[in-house]
Amino acid sequence: MYPARTWLSRSFSNISSHPLRVCVVGSGPAGFYTAEKMLKAHQGAEVDIIDRLLTPFGLVRSGVAPDHPETKIVINQFTRVVQHERCSFFGNVTLGSSISLAELRELYHVVVLAYGAESDRDLGIPGEDLSGIHSAREFVWWYNGHPDGKNLNPDLKSTDTAIILGQGNVALDVARILLRPTTELATTDIASHALAALNQSSIRKVYLVGRRGPVQAACTAKELREVLGIKDLYIHIKEVDLLKSSEDEEVLKNNRIQRRVYELLSKAATSGNSHSSSGQGELHFVFFRKPACFLDSGTGHVAGVHFEKTVLKGVGPGKQVAVGTGKFEDLDCGMVLKSIGYKSVPVDGLPFDHQKGVVPNASGRVLTDALGDQTLLEKGLYVCGWLKRGPTGIIATNLYCAKETVASISQDLEQGTLAAVTSLPKPGREGLLQLLDDRNVRIVPFSGWEKIDSEERRLGSLRNKPREKLTTWEDLLKVGTE
Ligand SMILES: Cc1cc2nc3c(=O)[nH]c(=O)nc-3n(C[C@H](O)[C@H](O)[C@H](O)COP(=O)(O)OP(=O)(O)OC[C@H]3O[C@@H](n4cnc5c(N)ncnc54)[C@H](O)[C@@H]3O)c2cc1C
Ligand SMILES: NC(=O)c1ccc[n+]([C@@H]2O[C@H](COP(=O)([O-])OP(=O)(O)OC[C@H]3O[C@@H](n4cnc5c(N)ncnc54)[C@H](OP(=O)(O)O)[C@@H]3O)[C@@H](O)[C@H]2O)c1
Repeated sequence: MYPARTWLSRSFSNISSHPLRVCVVGSGPAGFYTAEKMLKAHQGAEVDIIDRLLTPFGLVRSGVAPDHPETKIVINQFTRVVQHERCSFFGNVTLGSSISLAELRELYHVVVLAYGAESDRDLGIPGEDLSGIHSAREFVWWYNGHPDGKNLNPDLKSTDTAIILGQGNVALDVARILLRPTTELATTDIASHALAALNQSSIRKVYLVGRRGPVQAACTAKELREVLGIKDLYIHIKEVDLLKSSEDEEVLKNNRIQRRVYELLSKAATSGNSHSSSGQGELHFVFFRKPACFLDSGTGHVAGVHFEKTVLKGVGPGKQVAVGTGKFEDLDCGMVLKSIGYKSVPVDGLPFDHQKGVVPNASGRVLTDALGDQTLLEKGLYVCGWLKRGPTGIIATNLYCAKETVASISQDLEQGTLAAVTSLPKPGREGLLQLLDDRNVRIVPFSGWEKIDSEERRLGSLRNKPREKLTTWEDLLKVGTE
């Protein structure tokens, strides 16, 4: 696809007497697509992928919903990448604690950071630390068996009502997991502790609350159709919320995705019964409400959300923001899931734009200056995926993102701007393994993941599930290193 670049990079590899040592931090889609493109474009490159978890694949394993097995098929493609003779995976290696960024840059010619977004945006409103309030990320980690998510133990038994803040696809995933009959989840790879808790859940009513209107909802049509199609679910949408402004009309005219979402919501608002029947699950779409504070039950547990009603203001279709009206409304609940977006975290020595929550970069080249001066570059340091763009985009978006980052690396090799970095041999893999060994870090190679994979499949087959995930660090380490 890039003949000129490929030729030049090959010539780079030929004239160098030593291999180009590349380390990719993070084994999610961004990391794997980067590794794949680097291996293809640079015949002399040796690519090591490290991850803090013992298991590869990032959010494909710990984010994608258990009832979306078809989405996880991309794991087969990623497995072929790591099986390449010039590629390796080392799990249980955390950038920032097992090894510092400065050390990694000493060991490798090129370091590509693709470690995603493992924290949450905050609302910054009173009551946010009450019990019963979780981020969607924590809840998703819990039901997907992430080893840092097992201890969440959300209380699903003391309330019949949950409020989800945000109306993106993660919010829809979480709503679907709460409302879908558990008989349909039982044959997925959902963590067994989550299936057991959902089996006993008393949550029947879920509010999905957006600060803007149905025309601005951040979800996509396929995901919306799926939640609207849950068996025997009562859907409630106020028809008044579907009234369109002239800006809305303009958005709908020009944006097919928004149009499909709006049509689905309109159809759902007018079809079906006007009341739910007793015991029936309920999903309420609530628009034009922004959370002002959380209500305390008196025991430190959340009892509801105090919302301010909003209107849309701002110039131009698609650019409208929610502005408070000074009118308020409370919604009672016993659990809140904040699904307002993920957030990346910096490591020591890494330039970071705290405002945007990303590493400042020019087409994947890390900039020294968070103010965005494109001439000041961190030589040999690159970024890809959610850490580069912010926490949006589907798996395939990271393919294009990786193409861009690898094109920047190739260009820097061609034009010699990486010459100072690549002219000398670097220890690469041997140096990394030596350093980790000195620190008693028990790395888990890809063969360790294969052991975990086959044990999970074996356990799953006993329960008619594709896999039963190992959900503790101890179990994963035991199986992965035995
Ligand atoms: C809940 C959820 C569901 C989703 N469902 C879908 C879907 O159905 N379909 C779809 O197309 N897209 C989906 N997406 C989007 C998709 O998952 C993302 O676009 C993609 O995973 C982002 O890739 P990434 O590689 O940047 O980050 P990640 O996938 O998050 O990968 C980052 C990796 O870095 C590792 N890491 C973190 N910190 C460190 C560290 N300090 N040292 C070493 N390693 C570290 C992590 O363990 C992880 O393996 C979903 C996203 C979420 C949040
Ligand atoms: N099946 C799939 O393909 C799938 C599944 C899950 C996730 N994903 C992808 O993963 C990415 C992340 O998804 P996401 O749902 O976390 O993010 P998202 O799509 O950005 O949605 C975030 C939601 O939070 C709201 N929000 C943000 N800040 C807020 C605040 N301060 N107060 C109230 N509401 C606030 C947003 O409203 P505003 O619009 O008003 O800002 C929006 O509704 C997306 O690109 C998504 O498509 C895909």
